[in-house]
Amino acid sequence: MPSVHRISLRPLRRSDFGLLADWFAQPDVARWWNEPTDRGAIESKYGPRVDGPATTSMWIVEIDGEAAGLAQHYRHADHPEHDAAVGIPDAVGIDYLLSAGFAGRGIGPAVLSELARKALDVEPSTRRCVATPAQDNRPSWRALERAGFARAGACQPPGEPRAWTYVWEPPDGPAAGRRDGEDTHDLGYREVDDDPDVAVLIATMDETATWEATRRVRAWERAQLQLVPGQRLLDVGCGLGDAALALGEDLGGDGDVVGIDASAAMIAEARTRAEGATCPTRFEVGDARSLSEPDASFDVARSERTLQWLTDPGRAVGELARVVRPGGLVSLLDTDWSSLRLHVGGDDAITQKVSDALRSERRRPSNVGGRLPEVARAAGLRPIAEAVATQRWDEWDPDRTPAPTGCFSMASLAADLVEAGQLALDEREAFVSTVHAAAREGRFAMALTMYAVVAEAPPGRQA
Ligand SMILES: C[S@@+](CC[C@H](N)C(=O)[O-])C[C@H]1O[C@@H](n2cnc3c(N)ncnc32)[C@H](O)[C@@H]1O
Repeated sequence: MPSVHRISLRPLRRSDFGLLADWFAQPDVARWWNEPTDRGAIESKYGPRVDGPATTSMWIVEIDGEAAGLAQHYRHADHPEHDAAVGIPDAVGIDYLLSAGFAGRGIGPAVLSELARKALDVEPSTRRCVATPAQDNRPSWRALERAGFARAGACQPPGEPRAWTYVWEPPDGPAAGRRDGEDTHDLGYREVDDDPDVAVLIATMDETATWEATRRVRAWERAQLQLVPGQRLLDVGCGLGDAALALGEDLGGDGDVVGIDASAAMIAEARTRAEGATCPTRFEVGDARSLSEPDASFDVARSERTLQWLTDPGRAVGELARVVRPGGLVSLLDTDWSSLRLHVGGDDAITQKVSDALRSERRRPSNVGGRLPEVARAAGLRPIAEAVATQRWDEWDPDRTPAPTGCFSMASLAADLVEAGQLALDEREAFVSTVHAAAREGRFAMALTMYAVVAEAPPGRQA
């Protein structure tokens, strides 16, 4: 089964108090939360917050429908001492915990993104979301950084350990995090840094990395490449750097990993993730179409799900071919959006419209995945191995997450269908609500195929 995480926040209920007692007693929680574990004390502290009105809003974090942690938010203005100590105006503060079974699995950043948006939604008078993790609580502040929070300085919240101040502000200004009815999952990776939802783009990359299909093609790629210590690896369109860093584990201490991406936000995140890498790493902003790396300077060059965002994928593969040594390997991984199948119960018309709309490419090479060997050959490379993996979603709750895991929203798919002439403009909303209704009733299924090719540069080739 794919590791698919549906994250949602639901209001805390009195019937959750037993869970709270268990969680507060867990050593990793107790260390930072210091909350009572007896039922009476929990009732008297949290009961009024459940009954409301209260200045602190309490939520249960649900992961895949299971109660996994506790989250809270509060307007700084309602807590003047804390507000003065932190010193960030118009802020809503957040705290959260994940119970032992869910902590340490890389889910925290997605929970934080969800919580930040929820806090700004619920407290419309605030402009930014603030967290003050203890400076010693490194996992907590790393998760904030991964969720797109920026460190704004240090502070001393009353009665708490010395803390870092982390701030997240909706990229479009205060309203962006809560644009009712606006689509945050209209995903596009051509100009990530200009996107008002860059945090969503980053979070979606993390989700896509959990797809079973992604994990399979990456594992296949690793087995094909057979990297050995001392080799040099280049990843172009490296995004968050996770795939390159995983491959870097095969390079020993004297190999190295270079990651290039057009987005400064992606590169900043990749650099953070590279702390503690097993080999030297260099992540830099650059353009796949014109790399500043010397000819024949890498043993292996790869590119994953990036060619589909370029106007000229052939040129980028030509660049990969240029920078690998003679006999070196180029690895290309990409989705082919013409393979997308959407089933909503017995409504075959919808399946057909989606297939027809995505069959042809508009404005970008969205189907490049299916022709990777051809693109590699055109760049003078010799494909030596190919792989395919299909990602399947067999359920999705549109009330919990705006899009199926790692995917775009149905509203943006509808926009594509309109552009392709498969839907009239005034049919868009009906399309979205039909798909959402089917999903709520358990009649949603979707599949998408990823392709991979490993190709060899000619031995003795002139660079
Ligand atoms: C869908 S993401 C894939 C990221 C990563 N390879 C992965 O598979 O997780 C596409 C990436 O391509 C990058 N990108 C888009 N155009 C680019 C260009 N011309 N040069 C380099 N990177 C580019 C984007 O910034 C984004 O990080």
